[in-house]
Amino acid sequence: MAILITGGAGYIGSHTCIELLNAGHEIVVADNYINSKPESLRRVNEITGKTFKVYRVDLMDELDLEKVFIENTIEAVIHFAGLKAVGESVQIPLIYYEANIISTLKLCNVMKKHHVKKLVFSSSATVYGVPQRIPISEDSALSAMNPYGRTKLMIEEILADLYGSDHDWSIALLRYFNPIGAHKSGLIGEEPIGMPNNLMPYITQVAIGKLKELNIYGNNYPTKDGTGVRDYIHVVDLAKGHLKALEKVTKIPGVDAFNLGTGKGYSVLEVVAAFEKASNVKIPYKIVSPRPGDIAVCYADPTKARIDLGWNAEKGIEEMCIDSWIWQSKNPNGYEAAFNEEDSRLVKTAGIF
Ligand code: WQD
Repeated sequence: MAILITGGAGYIGSHTCIELLNAGHEIVVADNYINSKPESLRRVNEITGKTFKVYRVDLMDELDLEKVFIENTIEAVIHFAGLKAVGESVQIPLIYYEANIISTLKLCNVMKKHHVKKLVFSSSATVYGVPQRIPISEDSALSAMNPYGRTKLMIEEILADLYGSDHDWSIALLRYFNPIGAHKSGLIGEEPIGMPNNLMPYITQVAIGKLKELNIYGNNYPTKDGTGVRDYIHVVDLAKGHLKALEKVTKIPGVDAFNLGTGKGYSVLEVVAAFEKASNVKIPYKIVSPRPGDIAVCYADPTKARIDLGWNAEKGIEEMCIDSWIWQSKNPNGYEAAFNEEDSRLVKTAGIF
């Protein structure tokens, strides 16, 4: 029985593949490489020494997707595949609604047809919008502020309705806070396309000299030093949270949301200071005007995941910074240098790593 990982070549997906393989699971990866490269999966194989099947599949193509279910005995699905840039979602909302919502509907239809009703869904803390109270618990009000966040919120509601219609489903909705860091090998990590939107990849590209300086979006927020506060979580801790959620959905039917955060908030300036200490590299920055749509403070109350999943984040901000730095300094151009036509030929439909 295999676990299907959609978007398994991506940043969080590839880290989750490693944890699943190391825990002895058989996995099958389906990815269309719109936001990732097959090289990440080759390195998952290198790190774990384990082989697994890979399908180059766009979830919008139901026939291609069904092939995965016909050719493999799938026990459960961890669904990462989707578009995830907040700013981009404002520019091209229809693409986001199609890529995130329609593809999830197609996935659920194929799962239902093949009697696979265990699902772990990659949601996001953006479903909380402007948090009513901090730290944020799962019963906080939900109100997404942008098309990306609305796709996540709508999918959560769709999946709740799916469970309401058929109590054989077992669904975990994982609300990520701010994933950063990388596997300690430095072989896999976050590879933003073009100019990084998120803080840590921007900092690491300044550190390797690819970017001149960090623009800090505002320092007049009601926080300790005026800069934005977020709950940064090591991507390996996040990946381990998926294993715990998978355990839960393979045991108990239902639909439930869980915050995957550390419960600790760090300001932008604190992250910069932690990174400089970890890397011994100075990060030049300038304060610029706040980014539209940004909120002042956002961090999790992770109690529910600790109690119901038996999971909590273990890695601190120092380790997150060190691991981010090792990845970036070892891979100044991400997977770019390693990507070649051979890779894409190898994984055109199904490759084995
Ligand atoms: C963090 C802090 C910025 C960049 C986003 C998505 C969210 C999730 C995680 C998918 C903020 C500041 C940032 C920069 C800066 N992704 N910053 N200069 O906005 O909290 O969350 O990524 O699920 O959906 O919204 O993360 O890393 O962009 O920003 O000053 O160049 O760093 O203002 O305070 P964010 P971020």
